[in-house]
Amino acid sequence: MTESIPHGDIIVNRIDESYDYTSIKPSVELDKTGLSDLELLANGAYSPLTGFLGKKDYESVVHHLRLSTGEIWSIPITLTVTSEQAVSLKIGELIRLTYRGITYGVLELEEVYSPDQTMEAIQVYKTKDTKHPGVRNILKRGDTYLAGPITLVKKHAKEQFSNYYLEPVDTRKTFQDKGWKTVVGFQTRNPVHRAHEYIQKSALETVDGLFLNPLVGETKSDDIPADVRMKSYHVLLENYYPKNRVFLAVFPASMRYAGPREAIFHALVRKNYGCTHFIVGRDHAGVGDYYGTYEAQEIFQQFTKEELGITPLFFEHSFFCKKCENMASTKTCPHEIEDRVILSGTKVRELLRDGQTPPPEFSRAEVVKVLIEGMKVRL
Ligand code: ADX
Repeated sequence: MTESIPHGDIIVNRIDESYDYTSIKPSVELDKTGLSDLELLANGAYSPLTGFLGKKDYESVVHHLRLSTGEIWSIPITLTVTSEQAVSLKIGELIRLTYRGITYGVLELEEVYSPDQTMEAIQVYKTKDTKHPGVRNILKRGDTYLAGPITLVKKHAKEQFSNYYLEPVDTRKTFQDKGWKTVVGFQTRNPVHRAHEYIQKSALETVDGLFLNPLVGETKSDDIPADVRMKSYHVLLENYYPKNRVFLAVFPASMRYAGPREAIFHALVRKNYGCTHFIVGRDHAGVGDYYGTYEAQEIFQQFTKEELGITPLFFEHSFFCKKCENMASTKTCPHEIEDRVILSGTKVRELLRDGQTPPPEFSRAEVVKVLIEGMKVRL
């Protein structure tokens, strides 16, 4: 059995598809982030959270990276409405949570509060610059937060790659069936390039299995769409990974681009999915120049191994070195910068947009083919 213990010791389960919500009148329409958070709260990916954060927990997370009960938590999970919408809602009542008019959840409304969103931006994103996609998103979503425990009353039908949406209880069972005691989780919002492959495989040399867990919720409009990425993962796994050492399932959360704070959040959630280890490379969950290259690694020093309950595996910026004829990092390669093939996701998107092929040192040929075909339709 995987050696991973859920955050807060148990996997929360707040799914009740037999719940009769027909007599509940008040309703709040969720955005995509709200819908995915509802689902991840209910299926225990966000354990020990049982609902959208109340003011005390929210402020504790914003200022201290902990819930008021002491467990580490780094990203506020909030349900947002406008102040006009909030006026009609009463504390203590049940509220239907809808998406495109369909009811997916019920909230027991315990609290309505006005957050200091500028403070939230500065603390969580380390900037109040509205060009930052995460900051822009909190300001766009509304200025009033609703809090209380939730119940998921209907699972949202998945239009794409429905076989890859697994809940923490399912992934834990899968790892157990595979006999994996140690599992390393890998978060990505990109196609898997050679640098990713290198750090995954380096990690895989020391643990039983790799959980490839790409985020497929909301991302910036210029990130490569999830359906194209999923195709690229399939061709990569088929051609370059031993089948019995890797397991692929999607992570439906929205990307926050909160760098260091999101690295902690990503690690804790992967612990709930059953991982014992989690990869943090360079500028994890970063965007633009808001965070230092290794800030998302340094933040882990604030916590003890025991309270994290998942072991972060840190990797230096990796690249292909033409002189070494291999993937490497500054830890293992003595050569000059001119000898190294270093491409960013942005650079690759530019190449693809111009109809150029990213070099094989950067991306496997099979992956490039999928990206070119997939992006042709959209660029
Ligand atoms: S993220 O926003 O999901 O973190 P991305 O998909 O680019 O973005 O990265 C996935 C993981 O791989 C992160 O842990 C990131 O730090 C790591 N990573 C990405 N590129 C490199 C690289 N060239 N060298 C080392 N680690 C990397």
